[in-house]
Amino acid sequence: MFKFLSGLFSRDIGIDLGSANIVVYVKGKGITIDEPSVLAVRKVGSKGKKEVIAFGHPAKRMIGKTPLGIETVRPLQHGVIADFDMTEQMVGHYMSGANQKRRLLAHPRVAICVPACVTEVEKRAVVDATLGAGAREAFVVEEPLAAALGTGLPINEPRGNMVVDIGGGTSEVAVLSLGGVVISNSLRTAGDDFDNAIIAMMRQNYTLSIGDSTAEEVKFNIGSVIPLDEELEMEVKGRDLMDGLPKVVRVSSAEVREAIEPIILRIEDMLRYAVEQTPPELVKDIVDQGLVLTGGSSQLRGLSTRFSEVMNVPVHMAEQPLYSVAIGLGKLLETVDRGDKIAVTVDHSTV
Ligand SMILES: Nc1ncnc2c1ncn2[C@@H]1O[C@H](COP(=O)(O)OP(=O)(O)OP(=O)(O)O)[C@@H](O)[C@H]1O
Ligand SMILES: [Mg+2]
Repeated sequence: MFKFLSGLFSRDIGIDLGSANIVVYVKGKGITIDEPSVLAVRKVGSKGKKEVIAFGHPAKRMIGKTPLGIETVRPLQHGVIADFDMTEQMVGHYMSGANQKRRLLAHPRVAICVPACVTEVEKRAVVDATLGAGAREAFVVEEPLAAALGTGLPINEPRGNMVVDIGGGTSEVAVLSLGGVVISNSLRTAGDDFDNAIIAMMRQNYTLSIGDSTAEEVKFNIGSVIPLDEELEMEVKGRDLMDGLPKVVRVSSAEVREAIEPIILRIEDMLRYAVEQTPPELVKDIVDQGLVLTGGSSQLRGLSTRFSEVMNVPVHMAEQPLYSVAIGLGKLLETVDRGDKIAVTVDHSTV
């Protein structure tokens, strides 16, 4: 559904509700919140009731370290809501955090992003969670559209703009022209699966059991998708699965690369398929202008070089890959204020 959004947003916020991170943009202020999408909860009573004891960074630090009765929850998995109640609480927490000093914004209007691949039911769940968390109105914006706007692509021109977003739970590619998505594809696999592949590799090669946070650390420190001039190494600590005792092993970047290779190949297939579906006139623009790569996982060593070789087009890295979507939402909120008209696909719901 195409709509002209002029005047729809007055004092509002944009939320990039990601599987790994939640980023909040407050109109007139910019990005005010950037926290992991994690909660820590304590079970209260025998009826399975849960009380939230930490949100965001403090909760992420607890992953894999909680005592009995406390657990950490990641309410969004692969870009969609896995735990509705926890999503609602998290959105409510950060929405009130974003509005602390402005009481007028107690019930803001919210532009919120969902991956292009979600079903209507999944989209509705995001809207319901946002309304349930206290929003007056909720506008769903397609994530690739916000990402493309956020990276500065001229999406309103009659030109093929290709954006690739590799996040925590989803990988997406979209071609946009004249303010709309021409084609989009997505995979429910991304950064989290790189971590899982590293956990599986450590198990298989070293009978070493490691947690999610350690796997992510290995990915940050020595993860790569092309051979490096100087291969990297690091010590990884965990529990030996054979005797149950602590163990330290040295792991190389080549091993990590091999572990994540199957996921990279799937993402590359998705990109090739997207080009196959794109009308030739727009492909011509992509050949000339290249594609823009964004999302937290786009920072994996060598990813832009590799995509450039595979796709045979220039690849430009977004300046702030973790913020592109939130910046794009912000641009939507700010631009409409100036009376400019931007054609975007939105779904609009009110309490
Ligand atoms: N330097 C880095 N190298 C590799 N991966 C990284 C780096 N920095 C962050 N990441 C990964 O990026 C992911 C988070 O990216 P992002 O915030 O874009 O995801 P998200 O928007 O929350 O998820 P999604 O859009 O898939 O629902 C995590 O998996 C994280 O491990
Ligand atoms: Mg994202």
